[in-house]
Amino acid sequence: MPSAKNSGTTSSPKKQRPESASVPFQNPSLSINERVEDLLSRMTVYEKIGQMTQLDITLVNNTGKQDDVSIDAPKARKLIREHHIGSFLNGEAVTPETWFSFTNQLSKIGIEEHRLGIPLIFGIDHIHGATYVTGATYFPQSINLGATFNPEHAFQTGRITALESADLGHHWIFSPVLDIAANPLWPRFYETYGEDPYLCGLMGTAHVKGIQENDETSPAKQAACSKHFLGYSDPHSGRDRTPARLPMQQIHEFHRPSFQKAIDNGLKTVMLNSGEINGVPVHASYEILTTLLRDQMGFEGVVVTDWDDVGKLEDFHFTAENYKEAVYDSVMAGIDVCMTPLHLKFNTCLKELVEEGRITEERLDFSVRRILRLKFELGLFENPHPRNDRFDRIGNAGNKAKALDAARESIVLLKNEHNVLPLEKPAKIGVFGPSASSRRNLCGGWTIKWQGGKEDQYPDIMHTLFSALKKEFPGAHVKHFTQEETQLIAASDEDRQKEFISALDSYDLLVYAGGEEPYTEFVGNITDLRLPHQQTDEILFLSRSKAPLSLVLIEGRPRLITEASEAADAIIFAGLPGVEGAEAIANIISGRVNPSGKLPFSYPKNPNHFLPYNHKKSQLYYFDPEQANYIMQNDESPSLFQFGDGLSYTRFVYSNLKLSASELKLDGQVSASVTITNEGKREGMESVLWFTSCHFGKITRPVKELKKAEKITLKPGESQTLHFEISPELLSYPNDNGEAVLERTGYTVRVGGLSGEFRIPKG
Ligand code: BGC
Repeated sequence: MPSAKNSGTTSSPKKQRPESASVPFQNPSLSINERVEDLLSRMTVYEKIGQMTQLDITLVNNTGKQDDVSIDAPKARKLIREHHIGSFLNGEAVTPETWFSFTNQLSKIGIEEHRLGIPLIFGIDHIHGATYVTGATYFPQSINLGATFNPEHAFQTGRITALESADLGHHWIFSPVLDIAANPLWPRFYETYGEDPYLCGLMGTAHVKGIQENDETSPAKQAACSKHFLGYSDPHSGRDRTPARLPMQQIHEFHRPSFQKAIDNGLKTVMLNSGEINGVPVHASYEILTTLLRDQMGFEGVVVTDWDDVGKLEDFHFTAENYKEAVYDSVMAGIDVCMTPLHLKFNTCLKELVEEGRITEERLDFSVRRILRLKFELGLFENPHPRNDRFDRIGNAGNKAKALDAARESIVLLKNEHNVLPLEKPAKIGVFGPSASSRRNLCGGWTIKWQGGKEDQYPDIMHTLFSALKKEFPGAHVKHFTQEETQLIAASDEDRQKEFISALDSYDLLVYAGGEEPYTEFVGNITDLRLPHQQTDEILFLSRSKAPLSLVLIEGRPRLITEASEAADAIIFAGLPGVEGAEAIANIISGRVNPSGKLPFSYPKNPNHFLPYNHKKSQLYYFDPEQANYIMQNDESPSLFQFGDGLSYTRFVYSNLKLSASELKLDGQVSASVTITNEGKREGMESVLWFTSCHFGKITRPVKELKKAEKITLKPGESQTLHFEISPELLSYPNDNGEAVLERTGYTVRVGGLSGEFRIPKG
């Protein structure tokens, strides 16, 4: 170990800035490994700890407020000079000019004040587009991207986030969420791509590639950060950051695959789950952070804690008696960067732990190597500063058109009695509900601000559903009924109600835009999944009119609508479709766009019975009083709408499912093919979903599992034959240790209502 490494643990050794590129770590022609090792050998312990620290923007701005993206230079200088801080995060939506001015000063201070000139890395919550940049393109939230079943939209979300923020000195994007939507109460349901591990992996990996493999931002580069490793989405109570109980087998089978796929495709960083699994907070779990993530999953990138999660070991989980023990537990479990983020306790405690010999410098080196490698890979040593000469890329028409495409493909038509939609040449449309004239409700949390911006912070040109419908139907009288008005009438005497309802009879369509306001994390906890009763009452009241009623659900999780669903003629799950969302919904209502979204989750019917589509057979075994017998229901879950449901204005017919063999050999494949024909009158897109089911398994098997998704476009009368290759590897599942188990039994392959069978013979 070179002696420079051990040259004291205190701060501020004399400034010995290497002066020329002859210092190996500054020499770009050397390999990254050589540069990292050279730099590491020059660093003191406290400088290493500084690289492991991430502080919030409020510690270096003028007011201590998140929305203040201004620099207090003396504060920033002191933090870097004395504590060698390696990373900062966050802020809220401000203009590109403001961001440039801030990061330009911060990155300069970062280098000037650091003895070795190590550049800073800046992290930010751009969750669905560069959502903390004013005027940027804000895509639909991930739950909508999941509904498109089209990874191109996740790729474009990542690509355009990078295009609109990499120049601004935003190096590290805390996205995408790769948790699976396991519990519909969970307030971060909408940040996922849905409930299926394969779908989350498919979309998440595309998003990561869009961010990380984007030559258009050159020389700037960004790292994606998939989160929240692992099991965060499955809290028993459904409330944020509450305990999950997950056997390792379930972790391997359901929670690991989406992260594994992203890791196998070059994911650079991972953020951790703030909650506990099986009684152990993930931030202190060697089993999850080292045995699973490093040893089994092969992750070599940087692991960052979530917000103050080292502190939470002391004052939220109560597993550490004080902050220093919390630092010890989390560092020894395997964290690299601590999002402290509001104080320097991590630094002082970790320094003491090294001085006391409880944590070795070698342990710090493991983390610091990864952090420095990330900084070298992102080119920060050569290109540490932002630039301001390509702002015309931000929020330009081409980028917004991509967000509109994504929004259009994400809208799911769930019910369409008597083909009330599309609405052709209407004379009168009535628009109701709490989201009819709201912009913020269309975007959800993490847009402009953590809990979503204020209504007046959204762009003036952004449509509400009401204004989008007016634009979509220029020849019609489109009337917005405020909620107060509707509620007042619903509460008035019977005559007044009748008069109002019969006046509505003359409308061609009543649109009720209901659902939720923006939220995330603890703020979004609920104790009742039902749609707020006032909304249900309004829907039932409006359904007394003879005019057709369309319910438009603008929400981040499936609020129960069982009663209202019967009253509505059409139901549209619009999710959180983003800035272009209202236009997309209006396009679906008018039929300008043929709907092609499919539900990426199971929409529950009853308050106390949610099952994902990939539940176990025994979960549907019950006593049926009418038949006076026990029943095992077929494979469909008891949901109101199933995973993969979604109607079109055309009709797709699946035929001719063929399997190339009835037996799958251990070194072979079975090829399945199916023909899809558009038998309707208009062009449409169809997501073709291939499922397999294993008939008998020593670890109980899901009733079916999505193995492939492919989206195609067919003109009227056109057919296409698609193929699905089935290998033993595709059918195996993990045991408790994550080792592959292959059952020698019968299997069913299903696609579009057709099914075929084959076997893996006993051998
Ligand atoms: C959230 C993360 C987010 C981080 C930084 C945390 O509270 O759980 O998803 O990236 O804050 O804002």
